[in-house]
Amino acid sequence: MTRAAIKLVMSFIVVACSCSGANDRQEESRSPSTDLSAADSLHEAIEETMAEAHRAISELGVTEAAMLRIQTALSRLARAPGHKERSDLRELHGGGAASAVLSGGGKDSLTLILARFQSGKTTPIHDHGTWAVAYILEGQERYIQWERLDAGGDPRHAQLQVKYERILGPGDAVYWFDPPHDLHSQEATEGVAWELLIFGRNPLQGTLHYFDRETGRVTTKEPVTPADAEERNDWTAQ
Ligand SMILES: [Fe+2]
Repeated sequence: MTRAAIKLVMSFIVVACSCSGANDRQEESRSPSTDLSAADSLHEAIEETMAEAHRAISELGVTEAAMLRIQTALSRLARAPGHKERSDLRELHGGGAASAVLSGGGKDSLTLILARFQSGKTTPIHDHGTWAVAYILEGQERYIQWERLDAGGDPRHAQLQVKYERILGPGDAVYWFDPPHDLHSQEATEGVAWELLIFGRNPLQGTLHYFDRETGRVTTKEPVTPADAEERNDWTAQ
């Protein structure tokens, strides 16, 4: 069992043991083997999802057909038991967004991430340097896809416009392609929104760019230090 699987198992046990009240009777009858089985099911579902994502990209390339296959794989993963294990979230982009790597995590590896967005806190317009598919688990989210009007030659300045805007709910998905088509911003419209994403490469270990639409200023955020990056991914399957 990989280190990620062991950690997921332990996390699931902690979550299961923290239940109380009306669930006490159920908890008393739940055996450790049941908990382990559920955790294993989640781990298997994650592995199946990643395998399908690899197959889709290998067979179809970074195409709309591949994105739709990955979207279908994420919809199956969303139904797997225990996928809501949400410990170890780290801040992402500021603005209340947070994320956790569920699988992958190598700099140039397909990476599965669980992300959380809070209402009233829009992420900056940003990129990830890669394609991705996002599947909404819970809540409602405003997703805005942006596009550059300039040629992209000035790394410190960009002229942007909205390409499209969508309100996404549970079961909805959106995808974007490799740069320069990966500019977007997100915001939960009610409470908290949760989503699963598969990225073409680990967005936490690549250079990010943040865009100020009013001034056109582009801010570059380099990857975190190697030690920090390692720490961020220390529970992912390597
Ligand atoms: Fe993003």
